[in-house]
Amino acid sequence: MNIDGKAWRTIGLDPGGRSVWVIDQTVLPHRFETRTLTSCEQAAEAIRTMVVRGAPLIGVTGAYGLMLALQEDPSDGVLAAAFEQLNATRPTAVNLRWALERVRDRVAPLPPDRRAEAARDEAGVIAEEDVAMCEAIGDHGLAIFQQLAAARPAERQGQPFHVLTHCNAGWLATVDWGTALAPIYKAHRSGMAIHVWVDETRPRNQGASLTAFELGKEGVPHTVIVDNAGGHLMQHGQVDSVIVGTDRTTRRGDVCNKIGTYLKALAAHDNGVPFYVALPASTIDWTIDDGVAEIPIEARSAAEVTAIQGRLLSGSGGGEIASVQLSPDGSEGFNPAFDVTPARLVTALITERGVAPATEAGLRGLYGGQAG
Ligand code: MRU
Repeated sequence: MNIDGKAWRTIGLDPGGRSVWVIDQTVLPHRFETRTLTSCEQAAEAIRTMVVRGAPLIGVTGAYGLMLALQEDPSDGVLAAAFEQLNATRPTAVNLRWALERVRDRVAPLPPDRRAEAARDEAGVIAEEDVAMCEAIGDHGLAIFQQLAAARPAERQGQPFHVLTHCNAGWLATVDWGTALAPIYKAHRSGMAIHVWVDETRPRNQGASLTAFELGKEGVPHTVIVDNAGGHLMQHGQVDSVIVGTDRTTRRGDVCNKIGTYLKALAAHDNGVPFYVALPASTIDWTIDDGVAEIPIEARSAAEVTAIQGRLLSGSGGGEIASVQLSPDGSEGFNPAFDVTPARLVTALITERGVAPATEAGLRGLYGGQAG
C-alpha cells in the first residue's frame, strides 16, 4: 500500500537475497524507518519486540528467519534449533508455526547445501501467497460492505458507511493489503464513501498508531476513539459493521484476536451490528476446537500497561519519542495480549475463498479436503 505516493510492503529481501528488510513498527507513526535482519537471532528479536507484528507478517518473518539460520549453518541441528527459537517468540498467532512448518518441511529432505536457497524460495512463496489471499479477502469483504450499505434505511443512504475496527489488521500486519482493512481499502478505491472508527487498542495502541497511519496514508477517512467508546457508538447507530482480524481461528470458528475484541463482539451482538472476522487460511488452527480453553494467550510485560509511548508534544524534548509512566510506583499491571471471541458472536468469517458462517461446517465448506 501507499506511503506518500510510494508503494510499500512490510518485508522484503535486500539485493543479493541474503538479508531481509522490514519496516520498524515500534516507531510508527512518528518515524518511518526500515531495519535489516541478517541472522535468525535478529529475526526472532524483531518478532519478540514487535518491530514486526500481526499474525501473517510474523509468519513471513519467521520463514525468512529460517533462511537466515540456514545460510550460516544448514545442518539438521541448526534447522531444529532455529525452528524452536522462532516458534517461541510469540505463542498466540498460529501463522508463525504454520509458516515455519512449511519451510522446514520443504528444506528438511534436501541436502544441506541446497537448504538455504530452498528456504528463501519458500519464504518468498509464502509472502506472495499472503498478498494474494489478503487481496481476495478484500474483494469478498467489499461485496459484504456494498450489500450492507445498500440495505440501510433511506435516510442513511447518503451517509458514509461506518466501520469499526480493533487493533491493526491492515497491511502493516501482513505483507500487503491487510485482512480486516483490505475490504476498507477496496471500498475506498471503488469510490464508496467509507469512514473508519479506529479503536486506539491499549496497551500498545496499534490502532491509534498503525491503523490510523495506514488509513491516513491511503486517504481513508477515519477517527481514532478510545477503546471504551465502541458500545456507545453502536447504541447510537453510528456503526454499520465491525470488522477485525484474528491470530488464530479454531476449526469451530472461535477467533482469538487482540485483547478487547471480545468486548466489541458483545457490544455488536447486543446492538444488532454485524461483526465480521477477516482471515487467510494460514490463521486456521484445525487442531483446536474450543478457543477459550485451548488457545495459548500471550502475557506481555506489565510495563506496557503501566506506561505508554508517544511523541512529546512540546518542551525541550518536543518531537522525541518517549515513554511516560501512568500508574503509581508499586502498582502491579497485568497484560494478556489477546482474547477469544466465541463463534456464536461472529456474523461470518471472510476468507480468501469466500464468506462462511463461523462454524466447522462453514470452514470445511470452504477448505474441504485441505482441512487438517
Ligand atoms: O500483538 P499484535 O499487534 O501482533 O496483534 C495483531 C492483531 O491482533 C491482529 O488483529 C491480528 O494479528 C490479525 S492481523 C491481520
